[in-house]
Amino acid sequence: MSVLEHTLSQKAIDLENKYGAHNYHPLPVVLNRGEGVYVWDVDGKKYYDFLSAYSAVNQGHCHPKIVGAMVQQANTLTLTSRAFYNDMLGKYEKYATQYFGFDKLLPMNTGAEAVETAIKICRKWAYEKKGIAENEAEIIVCNNNFHGRTTTIISFSNDPVARKNFGPYTQGFIKIAYDDLNALEQAITSSKNIAGFLVEPIQGEAGVYVPSEGYLAKAKALCAKHNVLFIADEVQTGIARTGKLLAVDHEDVKPDLLILGKALSGGAYPVSAVLADNTIMDVIEPGTHGSTFGGNPIAAAVAIAALEVVKDENLAENAARLGEIFRSELNKYIATSSIAKLVRGKGLLNAIVINDTEESDTAWNICLKLRDNGLLAKPTHGNIIRFAPPLVMNETQLRDCVAIIIATLTEFE
Ligand SMILES: Cc1ncc(COP(=O)(O)O)c(C=O)c1O
Repeated sequence: MSVLEHTLSQKAIDLENKYGAHNYHPLPVVLNRGEGVYVWDVDGKKYYDFLSAYSAVNQGHCHPKIVGAMVQQANTLTLTSRAFYNDMLGKYEKYATQYFGFDKLLPMNTGAEAVETAIKICRKWAYEKKGIAENEAEIIVCNNNFHGRTTTIISFSNDPVARKNFGPYTQGFIKIAYDDLNALEQAITSSKNIAGFLVEPIQGEAGVYVPSEGYLAKAKALCAKHNVLFIADEVQTGIARTGKLLAVDHEDVKPDLLILGKALSGGAYPVSAVLADNTIMDVIEPGTHGSTFGGNPIAAAVAIAALEVVKDENLAENAARLGEIFRSELNKYIATSSIAKLVRGKGLLNAIVINDTEESDTAWNICLKLRDNGLLAKPTHGNIIRFAPPLVMNETQLRDCVAIIIATLTEFE
């Protein structure tokens, strides 16, 4: 690295540190280009992206079809607000509802907004359809959940860093253990005021916790039995990431409310959505909810292209196949490793658990070494490293990445 190049990356980091709020702790690497499974830093060094912007870039960086749709729409019409109709939103709503098998879609921008939207729909449904008394509705959530960063969402988080000094908190949530059907049944039957069960089909941010087989199907059946809405947050697990279009598809579950974000745009633009059938979505009437940017023509064009890419390029099948190879190769290594304890995940959403305490900086140091060796990943919680490459990766590239990961881990044995 030349002095000039070093200055470039240090300058970018210094600017962020001086003028940006310190709400993240990024790995020290400054990127300025991406293509497919690769990103480049300002010094021209090439890396495998093994995080995909937290599973937003499933279709790969700067996918030409998605960027093309975005540029074309940006040159035509960008924003009308929902004060007027635009000629793209209806097309997108028709395409996406047929694609996922729901009657209606409510467009938003970020994942957290879509979660908020689902909570609002669920509460309104509870009062107007289920007959719960006003302001009494409760939604069951899981310990160690991650659904975003708004005031209501952090109110039902149990991460002290996400919550501390952001109170007073929003009421109306009951926390239970994840992957625990008894706890769910107990909570559902504990009160007549249960409106919904909000769940991540795999807890991504918590460290890629995959629930026991049958959990989602049985949880859905419990919800159906007690007239409680099953709300799947597929912001991170959806859009082919886990080897099926949706993670709930592994158990043939149709959620009552489906929350999508991130890869709904291939990472090109903030696009999120809630999908539901008419009996639920019809509680939303003019004036009850909205967003200036939600459903804008660029978002609509980008989302159609992003969803087409997922089907055209068989990304779910690819994620399933490469995920098997990834876990099987890492398992072979882990069998005799003292630094890596286990690998878990589904499709191309995986994590390894490092054999050290949650407070240790070993996982962080491994990620720094991975960076030096040409692969970018980041710890989720302390000693867990999440591995989520773009789904357009091919087998040769994946095996190359596995070799980098194993060589790097070997340095820490
Ligand atoms: C499961 C889940 N829900 C919601 C969100 C929030 O999405 P956003 O950061 O776009 O608000 C995330 C983000 O990581 C997520 O993983």
